[in-house]
Amino acid sequence: MEKREQLYEGKAKKVYATSDPDKVIVSYKDDATALDGLKKGTVAGKGAINNRMTNFLMRLLEKNGVPTHFVEELNDRETVVKKVSIVPLEVIIRNVSAGSFAKRYGVEEGIVFDEPTFEFSYKNDDLHDPLINDTHALALKLATKEELATIRAMALKVNEVLKAYFLTLGVRLIDFKLEFGRLSDGTLVLADEISPDTCRFWDAKTGEKLDKDRFRRDMGGVEEAYKEMMSRVFGK
Ligand code: TMP
Ligand code: ASP
Repeated sequence: MEKREQLYEGKAKKVYATSDPDKVIVSYKDDATALDGLKKGTVAGKGAINNRMTNFLMRLLEKNGVPTHFVEELNDRETVVKKVSIVPLEVIIRNVSAGSFAKRYGVEEGIVFDEPTFEFSYKNDDLHDPLINDTHALALKLATKEELATIRAMALKVNEVLKAYFLTLGVRLIDFKLEFGRLSDGTLVLADEISPDTCRFWDAKTGEKLDKDRFRRDMGGVEEAYKEMMSRVFGK
């Protein structure tokens, strides 16, 4: 499929038009940001790893009944996806306390929850992606009641599938962020990416962090962590 003009450039990806009005090409960069874009860097090889891992997981989710935007991987960094309009909500599921949850509520990281938690952030850089609840999302007309119910059900299903899958690789899925989009007919599909940028992965035996927290927290070993997750998924 032919790549045409660039439609959008985000922090970690670029999006290009194609000859098909219903499809776009996503191109993954090695750029990384954190702390609301204040911290910038590059992680060598990250674009290719996130592209390939996302596509593998999107396919796995499709097989398990979750509709996604995935169409076709073109090469290491580029993938054809269905064109969507993104619902401006970041959907965050947590199985274990970490990150902003631990900070907000003043608890340590690593507390295993009986049930996964579910939260939304309002995707709005000017406002720094504030936490938002269902009633506020409805009041702001970010999504309909039916869409919120569908998003919730799909996100919990994603958690079940991914948690079980990563455990087979010796990895605990601590938490993650999803984004959903609407196709031209309004159908909701899972969009964006699922990668060490958007998930917390802890080694099941050692507890070692295998995700973007190594970059966010200046822990070192960032490239190695992404590579390790890649080899767990695709084999050495
Ligand atoms: P948090 O603990 O900082 O709220 O992050 C929860 C999860 O969401 C974690 O796996 C990282 C992911 N995440 C993103 O993908 N993008 C973001 O902008 C933020 C803040 C978190
Ligand atoms: N990607 C977000 C930023 O640029 C935050 C993060 O992933 O920590 O600030």
